[in-house]
Amino acid sequence: MKPPQSVRVTGWGMYAPERRLTNADLERVVDTSDEWIRTRTGIRERRIAAPHETTATMAAVAGKRAIAVAGLEPDDIDVIMVATLTPDYWMPSTGALVKEAIGNSRAAAMDVSAACSGLVYAYSSADAYLRSGAFRHALVIGAETLSRYLDFSDRGTCILFGDGAGAMVLSASDEPGGGMRGLELTTDPDGAYMIWLPSGGSRSPASGQTLARGEHYIRMEGRETYRYATKTMATTALKAIERAGWQADEVDLFIPHQANVRIIESVAKGLGLPMDKMFVNVDRYGNTSAASVGLALSEAVDSGRVNIGDKIVLVAFGAGLTSGAVALEWTADPSCGERAALVDPVASVREPLDWSSVDPIPDRLRQVLEGGGGPAVPLDDVVPGEPAPAHREASA
Ligand code: ACO
Repeated sequence: MKPPQSVRVTGWGMYAPERRLTNADLERVVDTSDEWIRTRTGIRERRIAAPHETTATMAAVAGKRAIAVAGLEPDDIDVIMVATLTPDYWMPSTGALVKEAIGNSRAAAMDVSAACSGLVYAYSSADAYLRSGAFRHALVIGAETLSRYLDFSDRGTCILFGDGAGAMVLSASDEPGGGMRGLELTTDPDGAYMIWLPSGGSRSPASGQTLARGEHYIRMEGRETYRYATKTMATTALKAIERAGWQADEVDLFIPHQANVRIIESVAKGLGLPMDKMFVNVDRYGNTSAASVGLALSEAVDSGRVNIGDKIVLVAFGAGLTSGAVALEWTADPSCGERAALVDPVASVREPLDWSSVDPIPDRLRQVLEGGGGPAVPLDDVVPGEPAPAHREASA
């Protein structure tokens, strides 16, 4: 096939589960406080997948929305990439399940493993496929069900993460200009065990012993990770910006990985830019790992923060340790986002034969969820240094 003139973002979409877990809810499971979580992270609440929801179901809804926004049919998609660290199973890939759930019969489908940088890695891989002329339309999705990999007795991790999905369609175009102009990807195994999940892999297969040791939960050196993130996010973004031939102050909007508002503030400071250049929704979703950049991009476009011709930078860091940034020129009409509302927020993922799952919700989380909402933290209660709530509520 003939290589295209450009590869552009033509669709975007998100899915966030309905159930909110507030800081007040978490006060009832671990020794923490709403005030500590808000001031140290900027997070007020996160979403929790319902028992029938999985990474594949959430990815499929976000994916169908992105396809509708692009004005395409599911079968127009040639390749599907799902970035996730919380797949439905080790095999088959979540991508394979998503392919069927969105109603696609012809795409190649796979998963991408680069933790929170996953969507940026997937975007750049899809871009390369399309630039080569191999494919015309790619669906890239970041989706996570992190709530099922958290130890709800570890206050250092359980307060940070949430569930959700964000998706983009990339399309080959016969018009020049637009799309990715600069890319930077890094991987630094020095920090391989700063964020990790010890058991379930070939080094330590899951067993009664690994379960008793709680090795099926995410472990993290918070302070070290924070140091790495603040160092790497600004330099990674800057490299992508330089490769695009831009200056940092020419960028209209940064879509940073939503791990901690203090990390985002330090990126802004490192780049010498005001916070209004940074899109922030960590207050309402927490850290959704590979989903975070896609979820933030969707909300940014749908809330009027992105215009045709804008210079946008997606930048993320995560376990590995990985980091990645894409500097891109926006070409799509933001009003196409309205088409996402036509897509039902449900997806049907093929079930295995003669097998059914145990209750997937961790016991301590279930206790909080069944105990009701607890005192709500008002979302308009913004203190200095915290992000203002995004303009538009999630249309989950
Ligand atoms: N509530 C109350 N106190 C807490 C909590 C909590 N939830 N968590 C930790 N503390 C306590 C600690 O025990 C410590 O107490 P001590 O001084 O008596 O020992 C104190 O608070 C300070 O702890 P720190 O870990 O130094 O707190 P810090 O300001 O660094 O904030 C945090 C912790 C929020 C985890 C921060 O380090 C951070 O955001 N790190 C980055 C994490 C991250 O982004 N991870 C995602 C990586 S992406 C991926 O790929 C999954």
